[in-house]
Amino acid sequence: MPNYNQPMLRPEALKGKRIFVTGGGTGLGRSMTRYFLELGASVAIGSRKLEVLEQTARELEAETGGKVLPLACDVRKYNELEEAFARTRETFGGLDVLVNNAAGNFISPTERLSHRAFDVVVDIVLKGSYNATLAAGKHWIENKQAGTVLNIVTSYAWTGSGYVVPSACGKAGVLAMTRSLAVEWAKYGIRHHAIAPGPFPTEGAWDRLIPPGMEEQFDLSKRVPLGRAGDHQELANLAAYLVSDFGQYLNGEVVCIDGGEWLQGAGEFSQLSAVPEAMWDAIQAGIKSKTKTANRSGSGAKNGPEAGQ
Ligand code: HXC
Ligand code: NAP
Repeated sequence: MPNYNQPMLRPEALKGKRIFVTGGGTGLGRSMTRYFLELGASVAIGSRKLEVLEQTARELEAETGGKVLPLACDVRKYNELEEAFARTRETFGGLDVLVNNAAGNFISPTERLSHRAFDVVVDIVLKGSYNATLAAGKHWIENKQAGTVLNIVTSYAWTGSGYVVPSACGKAGVLAMTRSLAVEWAKYGIRHHAIAPGPFPTEGAWDRLIPPGMEEQFDLSKRVPLGRAGDHQELANLAAYLVSDFGQYLNGEVVCIDGGEWLQGAGEFSQLSAVPEAMWDAIQAGIKSKTKTANRSGSGAKNGPEAGQ
């Protein structure tokens, strides 16, 4: 069994780092927070539900011995983020890393969405990410401090996807911001990265994105070339590396961690994985015999390299 679900970096790899994770109370945000703590960082977690954040903080502090600061904030409100970052700096003595992980999403035919439903998702994903980036970045620049921003997008940020159009629009915007600011703010020592996860089971995503009774169509052993979902530790390993000092020469990179899922959808003939091994001899023999017949009758040459000469 490969060790993909094991911690990757050496202990203390993030010692002294002060990190803010939006949406850090649940799902992937919580898993990244846990690993950052194990590696010696102090972590502030921010979202709308303070009780959820407080419970996560208690549990992760007990598990790791690290320090977690739970802070209620809505990423759609710039002033709430400014306040949360100020509290983080007061408590930890500074802020070094921002992880834009908070998101909203649900499946729906686009024509069934009200404009408010479209707004709610784009506002959390895109406005939330630029609000947080701007609030953290302005402070870093004014105070001549270096910083790192890690944005969590999705693999459909560049392909688009039906039925989650507000999310696809929001994530595409975050991807554009990642690459734009990686260049513009490099002179201030601020690096930008993004991780584009494929399927990583979480309650938040699974409850909203997989329609009941359609589990078969979403069977990850078929959708993902590597035949499985992602393990939270794999994503946490990647995130920890990108925000650590070991990732200092990476800037503007978008790392897709999806077992090859989006490429399988993109490849014209990828569905041929369904052909049983035993059928390939017959298929190849059939193609070869047709090609030979075509070449003998001269029709094959017209499509070959000599065509038109
Ligand atoms: C159609 C919907 C809807 C639905 C809400 N609305 N849910 N429309 N289908 N399922 C509409 C409402 O009717 C309303 O419009 C508007 O959206 C705002 O709804 P509220 O319920 O008031 O919004 P709010 O309470 O702010 O909740 C936000 C939310 C919710 C996005 C709707 O789902 C949430 O809190 N999500 C946070 C967590 C989350 O989504 N996690 C999944 C991340 S997974 P009207 O017109 O009626 O006023 C991910 C990528 C996964 O991002 C990729 C997997 C591979
Ligand atoms: P999740 O547990 O539902 O996480 C979403 C978090 O965002 C919640 O903690 C939520 O907390 C917070 N949030 C939502 N609206 C907010 C707001 N207005 N202000 C502040 N916080 C808000 O889902 P997840 O699967 O872990 O997703 C985490 C990230 O991974 C997201 O960016 C998602 O797009 C991305 N992703 C996930 C997958 C996957 O397979 N799981 C795949 C691709 C990308 P509150 O409700 O307390 O506000």
